[in-house]
Amino acid sequence: MSFDRRLFLQSSSLLLAGGMSAIGGPRSVFGAPQFADKPSFEPRALMATWQRDPTTTMTLQWLGKHEEDGRTRNLWYRQSRHKTWREVAHTARRFPHTDLWQFRAELTGLTPDATYRIRVGLDSKQQSIRTMPAKATNEISFISGGDSGTGSAARRTNQVAAIQSPRFVILGGDLAYENGTSASTFLKFLDQYSSDLRDERGHLIPLIACIGNHETAGFYGKTRSEAPFFYAMFDGLYPDTGYATLDFGDYLSLVLTDSGHTSAIEGDQTDWLRSTLRAREDHPNVFVVNHVPMYPCVRNSDDKLHASMREHWSPLLERYNVDAALEHHDHAFKRTHRMLDGHINDRGVLYLGDGSWGKIRAPAGPDDRPFLAKTTESFHLSLHRLAGDDRYHLALSDKGKVMDITHTQKMARTRSK
Ligand SMILES: [Fe+2]
Ligand SMILES: [Fe+2]
Repeated sequence: MSFDRRLFLQSSSLLLAGGMSAIGGPRSVFGAPQFADKPSFEPRALMATWQRDPTTTMTLQWLGKHEEDGRTRNLWYRQSRHKTWREVAHTARRFPHTDLWQFRAELTGLTPDATYRIRVGLDSKQQSIRTMPAKATNEISFISGGDSGTGSAARRTNQVAAIQSPRFVILGGDLAYENGTSASTFLKFLDQYSSDLRDERGHLIPLIACIGNHETAGFYGKTRSEAPFFYAMFDGLYPDTGYATLDFGDYLSLVLTDSGHTSAIEGDQTDWLRSTLRAREDHPNVFVVNHVPMYPCVRNSDDKLHASMREHWSPLLERYNVDAALEHHDHAFKRTHRMLDGHINDRGVLYLGDGSWGKIRAPAGPDDRPFLAKTTESFHLSLHRLAGDDRYHLALSDKGKVMDITHTQKMARTRSK
């Protein structure tokens, strides 16, 4: 039983800098913690996510009615095959536009590919999480999608996602459709995700997100404070900018962008994208995640924002051998041909989208837009399976029907120019 003072000091100084206050001072606990026989406290909207390497860390967040909910309850955790519980401090701050408190604890130094039991305080029920493997030795599955909202279709897609038992879910923007203002809408999304996204063994399925237009009050060119709920949940990964990279050991990199909502396309973000992708040119699996698509299937592809992203970002994806762009925002299923310099080319980049977790529109088809290989007007998610040198990308409808399967492998490095 040890309290990790170093971790507490680290996390408290980091989060105090971000306006959060740390709760639960260092203390030693002797003997096994006395957990209540019957849980009397339920942490609201308990959610797992990441701020850094998912092979050895995990961030847990939950909501409570009172600051005291946090002051009296630290997070307890133990590896499932070990008996010793450890206690970690957390931070607390007011959740935007509500009288709720938000609590956050980051577990670090975890064993890769391991199951951990967790409890919030001594009086909540035991829950579980699992870390990512250190190496991609066995098949790894994860899910991406976007444009969820809180309606019945989103709940169905949640269920389809959960029964795949993915290691994690990426939502590429437009999570709740609270438009930066409706706390009740955002809370409904959190409650539903927390309750629905458990895998076959009941583990929490971590959520990684990037920002979309419906995270902000005003859609484009906004400040972080105009996207209060998104940054309340995810500012651990995005402490300063709307874009970030999450590297999973040496086998998977997610490059998460901000398609003009709180960060401009041109300038700093494009410079960052260039250096980020260049540094990962030889990595085995590199996916760029963007909300607004470079190759849209509904909106006019000549519109300024799509054209700007194609002008500034697509050449970088091509040059640095990105495996696929995961796109959203247009609310239908689409798979493009491989695109290089605006033309269909087997050496080009695959674009998968377009965000219909819980929202739907009628897409254009290949006859109208030659860059499209396939589109379907359906709610869907994408299930990605990494299996050695092979990758499989399945589109599953909200009813669980397989709508599309694509196989990819890392391109030989002939794209450099
Ligand atoms: Fe959307
Ligand atoms: Fe959108």
